[in-house]
Amino acid sequence: MRILGIETSCDETSAAVVEETGDAAKPWAIRSNVIASQIPIHREWGGVVPELASRQHIRDICGVVERALLQADTSWSDLGAIAVTQGPGLVGSLLVGVSFAKAAAAAAGVPLVAVHHLAGHIESLVLHNGELPLPSVVLVVSGGHTSLYLVERPGQYQLLSRTRDDAAGEAYDKVAKLLGLGYPGGPVIDRLAASGNDRAVALPTTRLTHADRNAPELKGDLDFSFSGLKTAVLRHVRGRDAAPSDQEIADIAASFQRVVVTVLIERLFDAARQYQAKSVGVAGGVSANSRLRAELVERGARREMPTFLPSLALSTDNAAMIAAAGLRKLRAGVTAPADLNADAALALL
Ligand code: KG4
Ligand code: ZN
Repeated sequence: MRILGIETSCDETSAAVVEETGDAAKPWAIRSNVIASQIPIHREWGGVVPELASRQHIRDICGVVERALLQADTSWSDLGAIAVTQGPGLVGSLLVGVSFAKAAAAAAGVPLVAVHHLAGHIESLVLHNGELPLPSVVLVVSGGHTSLYLVERPGQYQLLSRTRDDAAGEAYDKVAKLLGLGYPGGPVIDRLAASGNDRAVALPTTRLTHADRNAPELKGDLDFSFSGLKTAVLRHVRGRDAAPSDQEIADIAASFQRVVVTVLIERLFDAARQYQAKSVGVAGGVSANSRLRAELVERGARREMPTFLPSLALSTDNAAMIAAAGLRKLRAGVTAPADLNADAALALL
């Protein structure tokens, strides 16, 4: 069976066709994954402008879906279902995908499946690597989220912790902005860090030990916090007489990246130990980071714990991961009603 996936939660309009393989160990194969990025549009403003994003999704959605079907050599009548990101994300952007998917599912006479964006990121690991050894602890780290999930059974995601303030990707974007490096910050800091000294600037790491009053169900010791780190970089840059040189910017980028990656990896393996995981995974836009990828692979080998990453193309937002998560839900018998609505703050249950 083939499913069409649609993702419009932020600044990428994406459509993909994913097919079931019949192989339980590697259940899905990508036939197409078309992504129209809006980054050049938002770069001018230093970040995503929600109103511009939703208007651009409207312009792009039909062409992106047509191209995804064409590349997959698939017609509407070949589809068994349509999956769409219901949330979380920018509500205007989500609405474009949800409205399109509802109309397309009704016209094609196929079931509609509503997918949580983070379930999509988690399933990108399975789409790329096949089923993970379970239980698995998965870190979803993007521009909007930094969360640890325990996956005990396929398709079941239990939240273990999340950031109390900024997401890691958000910290990358904010630090890049204050260094005058443009949007999005992750790729450019990653590139500059390669020529910097990662011990040049002393930056703080935050370790939370107390429970979060706003989330008493979580123990809190696995939570993240990145706003103090961002402020420390800001103080370091503002506390100088002259603007930093290119080498100093590279040193700041490398030092910042070392702290972020160390915290993410430490917390992930702490959780894996606590929950006796048989594997760990990292997904989401920041999983494209070169240092994070290298350290994960290295730590995995050292601790004899299998570690998993998505391909680079599946790390940042894409519809193939939404299609995969949609197939998972469809096989569990869950479809969406015709009056499905977008939900900007959708919880992952
Ligand atoms: O998953 P994603 O595409 O969108 C959200 O769901 O947020 O993640 C985008 C985030 C941005 O904050 C971007 O700066 C970050 O991922 N990112 C990176 C890298 N590539 C993208 N962060 C660090 N290193 C990278 N190479
Ligand atoms: Zn994402």
